[in-house]
Amino acid sequence: MQGKRSIIVSNRMPVTFRSQEGRAGVEMVKSSGGLVTALAPVHSHSDSLWVGYLGQQTGIDSEVAQSLHENRFVAVDVPEELYSKYYNGLANGAIWPLFHYFPSFAEFSREAWAAYRKVNQLFCDKVCEIVEEGDVVWVQDYQLMLLPQMLRERQPNLRVGYFHHIPFPASEVLRILPWCSEVLSGLLGADLVGFHTLEYARHFVSSVSRLLGLDSRGEDVMCSDRVVKVGAFPLGVDTGAIRAAESDPQHVSKLKELKESFKDKKLILGVDRLDYTKGIKERLVAFQHFLAKHPEFCQNTVFIQLCVPSRVDVLPYGDLRDEVEWLVGRINGEYGSPTHTPVQYLFQSISFPELTALYRHADVCLVTPLRDGLNLVCKEYVASKRDSDGVLVLSEFAGAAEEMGEALVVNPFNVNSVVSALERSLRMTSFEKSDRMHGLKRRVEEFNNQQWVESFFEMMDEAHDKNAQSNARELKSFELEKVKQRLQQADRVLVCYDYDTSVMGRREGKWSYLSPGEHTLPMLTQIASLPQVEVALVSRLSRARLDPQFPEPGFTLLAENGALFRRANSQEWESGLRDVDLTMVQAEVDRILQRCVRRVPRSTLDVQETSMIWEFERANSVFAHNLALQTSSALNEMLSNTSFQCVMGRHHLEVRPVQATKLRGVMEFCRMQEFGPHDVLMTIADGKREDDLFRAFPEQNIPINLGSLRSDSQLMVRGNMHLHNILKELFALEKQEAQGL
Ligand code: UDP
Ligand code: G6P
Repeated sequence: MQGKRSIIVSNRMPVTFRSQEGRAGVEMVKSSGGLVTALAPVHSHSDSLWVGYLGQQTGIDSEVAQSLHENRFVAVDVPEELYSKYYNGLANGAIWPLFHYFPSFAEFSREAWAAYRKVNQLFCDKVCEIVEEGDVVWVQDYQLMLLPQMLRERQPNLRVGYFHHIPFPASEVLRILPWCSEVLSGLLGADLVGFHTLEYARHFVSSVSRLLGLDSRGEDVMCSDRVVKVGAFPLGVDTGAIRAAESDPQHVSKLKELKESFKDKKLILGVDRLDYTKGIKERLVAFQHFLAKHPEFCQNTVFIQLCVPSRVDVLPYGDLRDEVEWLVGRINGEYGSPTHTPVQYLFQSISFPELTALYRHADVCLVTPLRDGLNLVCKEYVASKRDSDGVLVLSEFAGAAEEMGEALVVNPFNVNSVVSALERSLRMTSFEKSDRMHGLKRRVEEFNNQQWVESFFEMMDEAHDKNAQSNARELKSFELEKVKQRLQQADRVLVCYDYDTSVMGRREGKWSYLSPGEHTLPMLTQIASLPQVEVALVSRLSRARLDPQFPEPGFTLLAENGALFRRANSQEWESGLRDVDLTMVQAEVDRILQRCVRRVPRSTLDVQETSMIWEFERANSVFAHNLALQTSSALNEMLSNTSFQCVMGRHHLEVRPVQATKLRGVMEFCRMQEFGPHDVLMTIADGKREDDLFRAFPEQNIPINLGSLRSDSQLMVRGNMHLHNILKELFALEKQEAQGL
């Protein structure tokens, strides 16, 4: 966070508007979840700005505005009704339950989705209003998943990081969300997308690949113009704030009170927002079973469950409160006595110094969420322990479980597992307790909140700088000039365009593969009409499919990977290969590929003159892709003693003559054109999949890469529109147009 000014952007902030007796003001919120706990110290120890929602802004005067300004808080104004649809409806009514694997609690309303988009847009407007050159924007959590891409569109070179504080589900669950592609595309606007665990990061990368069809390399996602880094950064606690809280009078008096009140008793502690993901009901049931099974603990054990009120306007939360309170009453009724209350239940939030006193005194901290992004409470408990005394019981479904190996790890759905962990904790020897707590403390102290911020920013800078450097390799004006000179000095220019290239692009807010643009083809005709320029269009498609698309082109067509060609301005097709007889293998290949067609809906088989193509572009990609992989190896084995081979593409499988390659087609075209030493070849293709063309005459070749992989020897072009503009510039087409061409 040093050097550059950072802008933290989150829905929730540590302050909120309040209006008392008609007078507005801002006040600190007592408890607002792990996100605010994590970011508040980051904000107070730096010169960051914090953009967020503060509640309804009514009657704000200059004094309030001044106080916000001094504390570097920037409020996003959202009308009340819109906010409710966004926050209660989409963020907490759909995304929260789904991402925590509670799909049955999720409700999907189009109106709520529209509100979510609108509010993300309002956040974007506010950030764009205040952002300055060199600033870093750090977007937080699931309430703002569209914001990174919105910012990227408005300011392409902005440094944007995103951190996800909740679980990221497997793609099978994510795809339940009707707008999952928009959400994934929204996140890909960031330079770095961070998660608490490697598992969530992997879920994200595999969702991007399955649902958007984007490629990844390890934890990097390849977008058309950028590489988006994905990483795991488990949040840490502010150990300094915990130490500081110890000398707070509230902490001191609370600790004294606890010591006196629970002198002869063991204290079990639960601290959560009242949320169905936290497993509070299940925990109470487990405690009930524990008391039933171990009556010896009934009179000397107290379970304090602190429930912080949360999202009271979202349906399941109201029901949950009733159920929890009913259970508490039931346990106390059954196991309590006039002098002993086994469960002490608090529905409120308490100050941080008081909370740390509770942590310090508790013999056991019971952290048993059914699913939790990370869970800071368990780390706070460990960091608050001065004397390594105390036991942490932790759910295996908390993100923190990966790091907290010395805890007693339980499955909260399994009552017996929690009951035995409770018994074990209360009977554990001091030596074992200290040994376990010591290991936990060492890790929590080393990998603290500051380390979390530093590691995130380090990787974000790296990701951003790498993208900025690679973008510099794109056809910038100085390179354009060099290429232009080479073209002007050449005797002739041969342009070969790979017609099968598809380019990553965004259509209606989603990433997808776009076929060769309507912009490029008329332009190729125009280029082909220039003096000393010849153009060839290379494709795997048959002449039957190319003919109707190009009735009279002024350029050469190479069909079936160059196995057939049609010269410029001619209607005749000629054969580019000798001794090719598809009938030798056709029946057997047909049998296998027809089976694939029957197996995969909306896939087709195209039997051409020299090749056969099974196309599954419109099919379920994962299923078809796996079948294609299996079929491809079976076919290659079968064809091993023939002059045919099977080649797999992104959305097709092709059986074709071994000699039919686009490289050979281009070489043949050059030979036909009597390509000389003073001529230049320009090849345009997706360098990721179809880089054949780039290998022709390397010395005389200007390779233009429309793909998403970077290479020093090729010139990168960002999509069809960019290519269109570059070709226009290189071949001076506007000038030609003006001269009546
Ligand atoms: N917390 C608080 N006051 C309370 C109870 C809890 O400030 O009365 C804080 C607690 O210190 C922790 C946060 O609330 O930092 C809860 O974060 P966690 O990651 O455990 O869960 P979340 O609420 O974010 O889902
Ligand atoms: C979790 C979420 C945060 C959220 C917090 C409190 O920690 O990850 O984004 O702020 O819960 O929830 P609330 O709805 O009160 O903001």
